[in-house]
Amino acid sequence: MKLHQAKSLNGTLEVPADKSISHRSIMFGAIAKGETTIHNFLEAEDCLSTLKAFQDLGVHIVHDDKTVTIQGAGFDGLKPAEKPLDMGNSGTTTRLIMGILAKQSFQSVLIGDASLSKRPMDRIIEPLLQMNAKIHGVNDTTYAPITISPNNYLNPIHYVLPVASAQVKSAILFAALQANGESKIVEKEISRNHTEEMIKQFGGSIQVEGKTIRLTGPQELTGQTITVPGDISSAAFFLVAGAVARNSKIVLKNVGVNPTRTGILDVLTDMGANWTILQEDVHNQSADIEISSSNLVATEIGGDIIPRLIDEIPVIALLATQASGTTVIKNAEELKVKETNRIDATAKELRKLGASIETTQDGLIIHGPTAFHGGQVSSHGDHRIGMMLQIAALLTDEPIELEHPEAVSISYPQFFDDFDHLIDKEG
Ligand code: S3P
Repeated sequence: MKLHQAKSLNGTLEVPADKSISHRSIMFGAIAKGETTIHNFLEAEDCLSTLKAFQDLGVHIVHDDKTVTIQGAGFDGLKPAEKPLDMGNSGTTTRLIMGILAKQSFQSVLIGDASLSKRPMDRIIEPLLQMNAKIHGVNDTTYAPITISPNNYLNPIHYVLPVASAQVKSAILFAALQANGESKIVEKEISRNHTEEMIKQFGGSIQVEGKTIRLTGPQELTGQTITVPGDISSAAFFLVAGAVARNSKIVLKNVGVNPTRTGILDVLTDMGANWTILQEDVHNQSADIEISSSNLVATEIGGDIIPRLIDEIPVIALLATQASGTTVIKNAEELKVKETNRIDATAKELRKLGASIETTQDGLIIHGPTAFHGGQVSSHGDHRIGMMLQIAALLTDEPIELEHPEAVSISYPQFFDDFDHLIDKEG
């Protein structure tokens, strides 16, 4: 596909709903008792994988546009699926559902696409085995297809997370909700806390003190009404677009600003970007954010901010190509086990367009500012790499061809249309 060409972007955009919260809304709705209604559900491939998996587990879910109604089955009301549960490309579905299925009277098999089948699942299997779950990967590995065997008892766990991962934390929390006794989880760094927030929202009890989380099971949850805010990880592409493109001003409406997710806003500030919150809804943790063309300076990104912006690093690397000086991104080795190796894919594709960028063991070093030229690039089948490359196309008049643009449907099916809409607004 030939990427859309534009020099500037102007206008207002409501970005799609948050992916992490949409996944969890379906999961909590299914394991709670009573009805759950989700407003502004993200209709993208990953979240539809979650929705379909719970339908296959016998949960009554009605999906009408962005509104989803779930008749909660409770942990004990799930039914065996007739065939393997298809996780598609979704790491979040796979990892979180393992915690839910760890104590069921039936066997489940989880399958996924080629990328998912290469992603590490030992990080989930190991703590769940410690809790007495019966889980293994294909041919005695820890890779998908994953088999979860029937099991009627889970121990609580005291676990220090070896990686900063909300997916691992969440899988353990779903199992801990079904275990007999107090579980204690200590995070390596604080990661997105949507699971903890939703346990409270659905009437459960959880104690969080810094990096330490305590939860006593078993607990029963009650269905709720959820309104999902916009995804800051989707907004990130337009935040960077507004900052790097000339004569641009973009307003992003209803962006989720949960503090465990807003690392990109801190980086934009550090790099001197012109952004401001126009209006904030503190209760819903959402805000309207305006960003405009900026003179950018390099920065250092590492340590505890990394989990707060982990999915934004490819587009932050693009931002850094337009900043004066050398930007260093470190402590981000987790990027190697995302939908693709995002350290390598980001460097490889941006170099094709003229960026000066080096890979390191745990991140990237980017020298800026650099001028871009056209070329042939690939998303590597990774939604966030594909979208980042469309933003890169703002920086050259020469044509850029993108291979595998369809990958954007994983989190943002209407991404190219939304980009186009901001060009049209400019006239
Ligand atoms: C997610 C957690 C993060 C993130 C992913 C979504 C979640 O993964 O990269 O896109 O919803 O819990 P890790 O937990 O592997 O860091």
